[in-house]
Amino acid sequence: MSHSMKHPEKYKPSVHFVKKAVFPSLSQYQSMHRESLRSPDKFWGRIGKGELAWFTQPKKTLDWKSPFAKWFVGGKLNVSFNCIDRHLEGGKRHKAAILFEGEPGDVRVLTYQQLHDEVCRFANALKGEGVKKGDRVMIYLPMVPEAAIAMLACARIGAVHSVVFGGFSSESLKDRIQDCGAKLVITADGGYRRGQVGGLKQNVDAAVAVCPGVRRVIVLKRTGHLEKLNPIDRWWHELVAHQPSTCPPEKMDSEDPLFILYTSGSTGKPKGILHTTAGYLLGAHLTTKWVFDLKETDLFWCTADVGWVTGHSYTVYGALSNGTTTLMYEGVPNQPEPDRFWQIIEKHRVNIFYTAPTAIRSFIRWGDHWVKKHDLSSLRLLGSVGEPINPEAWRWYHQVIGGGRCPIVDTWWQTETGSHLITTLPGVHATKPGSAGLPFFGVDMAVVDDQGKEVKAGVQGKLVVRKPWPSMLRTIHGDSERYAKTYWSDVPNCYFTGDGAKKDADGYFWISGRIDDVLNVSGHRLGTAEVESALVTHPAVAEAAVVGRPDDLKGQAVVAFVTLKAGHKSGSELVAALRERVSKEIGPIAKPDQIRFAEALPKTRSGKIMRRLLKEVAAGGAVKGDVTTLEDLNVIASLQASSGEES
Ligand code: PRX
Repeated sequence: MSHSMKHPEKYKPSVHFVKKAVFPSLSQYQSMHRESLRSPDKFWGRIGKGELAWFTQPKKTLDWKSPFAKWFVGGKLNVSFNCIDRHLEGGKRHKAAILFEGEPGDVRVLTYQQLHDEVCRFANALKGEGVKKGDRVMIYLPMVPEAAIAMLACARIGAVHSVVFGGFSSESLKDRIQDCGAKLVITADGGYRRGQVGGLKQNVDAAVAVCPGVRRVIVLKRTGHLEKLNPIDRWWHELVAHQPSTCPPEKMDSEDPLFILYTSGSTGKPKGILHTTAGYLLGAHLTTKWVFDLKETDLFWCTADVGWVTGHSYTVYGALSNGTTTLMYEGVPNQPEPDRFWQIIEKHRVNIFYTAPTAIRSFIRWGDHWVKKHDLSSLRLLGSVGEPINPEAWRWYHQVIGGGRCPIVDTWWQTETGSHLITTLPGVHATKPGSAGLPFFGVDMAVVDDQGKEVKAGVQGKLVVRKPWPSMLRTIHGDSERYAKTYWSDVPNCYFTGDGAKKDADGYFWISGRIDDVLNVSGHRLGTAEVESALVTHPAVAEAAVVGRPDDLKGQAVVAFVTLKAGHKSGSELVAALRERVSKEIGPIAKPDQIRFAEALPKTRSGKIMRRLLKEVAAGGAVKGDVTTLEDLNVIASLQASSGEES
């Protein structure tokens, strides 16, 4: 992606954004930022103490035995207490905590008091099912308030939740249940998506059939499309019916696990990213407050599903920890028509809107007239997340959605980082379309070469973090060696993000995207290895290699090169079967956009697939660059002639 750095669009932030208690002036921000880098312990110690509610104050801010960090050592707190109970006193008891709109148009509002009661009832129900502190609980639900309630109920009793996005297959769910050893699964009789009822329950049934460790499935009635329960199942509403609406919050250690969230890496199966209590909550809380410049009366809408980290940190934890009203929407943006989001913003008077570039590019394609039908004057701030935003999409977002008056925060972060690491701050920084901005407080970010040496401004390199930060992942569940190897071995003494980037002369970061074997398809992370493993489960496939191809809408499209076993024929039927296979193994989001049958895959003499060549072929260009290590040059000709089957 090429970015113009010549004409940065400067913001003249309105007074509204400048008059902030936290950063009354740029120089105050700068001195705080300097302190956060120079004396991170002092800075985070003070901020942690002031921003979170503790049962016991921490004794030490950071214990760093690279690559293992412990933050706020000795502190005791509870995330659900921070997200709910602390707002009950002081005027927020009857404030809306969650404003929900279902795809069919049903609206539900839960005040902080009601959220408290629901969370406590469900927490008591979980206890009744034998769930104890430290046990893992799987959540596989649509975007309904109960997803947040289930997460908070786990946090309340110290159970570790693992939310699985409803678009993942039963195979994926099974892998995750087994990897984290969950004994209970929370699901629904379905959810509404694209005007239809999506079946989550069948996937759960198939998964738990091969997961003997699961002792109970709790089923939320959302659609009424399920008649009979299995012996292992219980209805949510029946379990909570007689539970008390209070439940004392468990006193959790700062470093007790809060959740495990699976995400794709460059090798093997998805990794269980483990986040703990205090550091994670502080990261989510503080970035929500400062990056989105929260005001007491805001309605905050983050469009991410709770199955992704953005839904965890911003829809649920960051928003509620700040006592904000968070909007949850169940469905897709073009149901019943392409103006659903604008309808929601107008109807509920949304102030802060946070979405992904892929969605923005779809809106552009659908046409401005859908936006123009609605009054979006309530919007004050816009956010972007998940992939690099191209400057054209940025400008459209700014003009057409934001009416030219709303600052845009382009927030760079990852499942592993827990919260934003690079962003501009409204009222403090000028924005440059296409650049995520500057490192957040305490974040020692750098662009380095293969040896770990910082490169000059404007030079492309690897994006790394040189010091621990509070909301960083603590490990990969059950595999600390893999954690150390994946994140802390590529560049000495640094956390390697997997992204490429450059930093300009003003210190702004320009992210080019993943430089490892991870794809970013519509803002969703996919490992090429995962898709390849799914393809080779099909009996016709001998070998598969998957690469990304630039795509105007999705950022990247999935292209699979496949060689067949003797006796099997390529063709559209096999293409359909292979796409179906990937959907079954991983989920519909991973279906290859194109499958190309090849005689052979290009390999080095040591047998390594040359992905660079495949990327060039997939992008439709001629194979350029060095091919001297290629074992058989004829392979290139066969690849270029391979039958492209666009789906
Ligand atoms: O490549 C970066 C891209 O998304 C990756 C992280 O994916 P995931 O863990 O699924 O989390 C997505 C939501 C935080 C990063 O390695 N990415 C995320 N935000 C941006 C981005 N790329 C460019 N600009 C961003 N704002």
